[in-house]
Amino acid sequence: MHVARQASARIAESLRKASVSRVATLALSGGNTPRETYHLLAHEPAIDWTKICIYWVDERAVAPTDDRSNYRWAKATLLDVARVPVELVHRMPADRPEREGAARDYEALLREKVPAGRDGTPTLDVVVLGVGDDGHTASLFPAEATVDIRDRWVVAVPGAAQREPRLTLTAPILQAAEKVFVLAVGSNKRVALDRVFREEGDLHATPARLLRSARGKTTWLVDEAAAGR
Ligand code: 6PG
Repeated sequence: MHVARQASARIAESLRKASVSRVATLALSGGNTPRETYHLLAHEPAIDWTKICIYWVDERAVAPTDDRSNYRWAKATLLDVARVPVELVHRMPADRPEREGAARDYEALLREKVPAGRDGTPTLDVVVLGVGDDGHTASLFPAEATVDIRDRWVVAVPGAAQREPRLTLTAPILQAAEKVFVLAVGSNKRVALDRVFREEGDLHATPARLLRSARGKTTWLVDEAAAGR
């Protein structure tokens, strides 16, 4: 709960600042951890939701009403509660059968809507990430080549054992964001966090290490169990 309160307050302040004179951009992750944060965020008085465009960090190849859908949870906890205007909500269409085309279309949408930095990469104002017990972030999983992709911003990720196919943002767009908030709660995250913060380490074993090269500000919101103290 404490992590969620901190996360909500800090994300709200970042969104408020980013949206003073323009429409700001927010990219959401799925998983269990951010749900409480999204619920609190929906009630943050500082945010004018008519000035925030919503995107997703990743999405599973399931219907938007499915219990595993990242969109479904963001909608239930945040978008519906805060009454975010539908035209500002850009769901990742990972349930389209031609996922490669869906990835290209989402990339084109980001290119069109999100202001780019000097190197042409769209610069999201605020990105919310989690860390998997295995060290993944977004849908960039250990021992998979997706974490190496530098020339795409959105890619299709094939399914694996116990994992449906997905769409995900790639490392370069995550690293280009102005502000990244990483939420990690519970002792099952301890080993993964340890591998992220260790000086030496392999990106392919722990894709969340990509945040060590983030250009903007990365804020880790971690509870004592996850931090190991
Ligand atoms: C997803 C994610 C993913 C998530 C981590 C942590 O769709 O699963 O966006 O990267 O952030 O798996 O998930 P938990 O919060 O459930 O531990």
